[in-house]
Amino acid sequence: MLTIKKLKVPGFEAVIEGRDPSTHMHCFIAVHSTKLGPALGGVRIYPYASEAAALEDALNLAKAMTVKSALADVPLGGGKSVMIADSKTQKTSAMLLSFAEVVESLRGDYIVAEDVGSSVEDMLIIREKTTHVAAMPTKRSSGDPSPFTAFGVLRGIESVLKKLTGSPSLENKTIAIQGLGHVGSHLADLLFLAGAKLLVADIDQERAKDIARKYGGKVVSPEEIYRIHSDVFSPCAMGGVLNEKTIKELSCKAIAGSANNQLESEALDELIRKRHILYAPDFAINAGGLINASLEFGKEGYDPRVSRNKVNKIFDILSLIFHRAEIEGKGTNAIALALANEKLSGS
Ligand code: NAI
Repeated sequence: MLTIKKLKVPGFEAVIEGRDPSTHMHCFIAVHSTKLGPALGGVRIYPYASEAAALEDALNLAKAMTVKSALADVPLGGGKSVMIADSKTQKTSAMLLSFAEVVESLRGDYIVAEDVGSSVEDMLIIREKTTHVAAMPTKRSSGDPSPFTAFGVLRGIESVLKKLTGSPSLENKTIAIQGLGHVGSHLADLLFLAGAKLLVADIDQERAKDIARKYGGKVVSPEEIYRIHSDVFSPCAMGGVLNEKTIKELSCKAIAGSANNQLESEALDELIRKRHILYAPDFAINAGGLINASLEFGKEGYDPRVSRNKVNKIFDILSLIFHRAEIEGKGTNAIALALANEKLSGS
């Protein structure tokens, strides 16, 4: 039987825990803010080590969605959900349907989409029990967000290169990609075609080997990817990868990738600045998928051309962040947060 428990978490509009032992479903949904619109955010299906770790991830990811929406100028709020399960071995339709009932209980304050461990096909299953779902592979929906996220990351990397070298050209630039899943693999395609040299790492060695073989790139180990010399390190796997240890190891000129919540703590922004590494704040550079999904909700309906043109603006948003960070002598993450908060407070 499904039970839904409300949790009180300061600073959040709603946090709920759903459990259904009959389908082995255990989830948390966090709605951080609906100030700018309903809170859209993916569902992460992951074998978390503990319930506390799952809840913490949902809260941190939901908070990041609020600033991501504000900075990207989309009429959506910030929310996210997590389900405790191994997506490869434990995910079932019954589990997704129980989860859908928990989504439905929030009556549209939260809209679910895909994230790590979930797919656009999963959204079709969830759709059977709730209408509050986006990014489905149907005619009226926006479909897989990953190609648009990857395109936004490409434009972000070009913005980084413009700042560092005066030109956005990727010709002969070395990009080290960590994680070759939905976003990382699309990004590899785009970077290769734009002239870049690729260094690739994934805990799934076969994925890394496939991409390296396809594009004449080089496979490096998941440990080595931090230390390897590159122009841009592109984290496209999990969050928290930028910590005191890894930042000291980095041998790149810039960090620009899709992973959410890359900084283990916000203060590390300053350590990256002191190392003279240019950081493209994750919630600024990875907004492509969110922008794409947001267009489902407009009066005109979804149009991929409008999406492409809006995602393209990530280049300019990052240029502005880099400029302000330089003028004010602050870290880029702090500046991006300030810009998002200006939008949230209507100033
Ligand atoms: P995914 O699950 O398809 O791919 C993640 C990849 O990273 C997998 O190939 C996995 O084996 C690999 N990986 C995991 N841990 C690793 C490690 N320690 N070292 C190297 N590789 C590792 O996920 P997806 O959709 O590609 O997302 C990647 C990141 O981008 C996530 O943090 C996600 O939250 C974020 N993101 C994704 C968006 C999207 O449109 N899919 C939108 C915005 C952010």
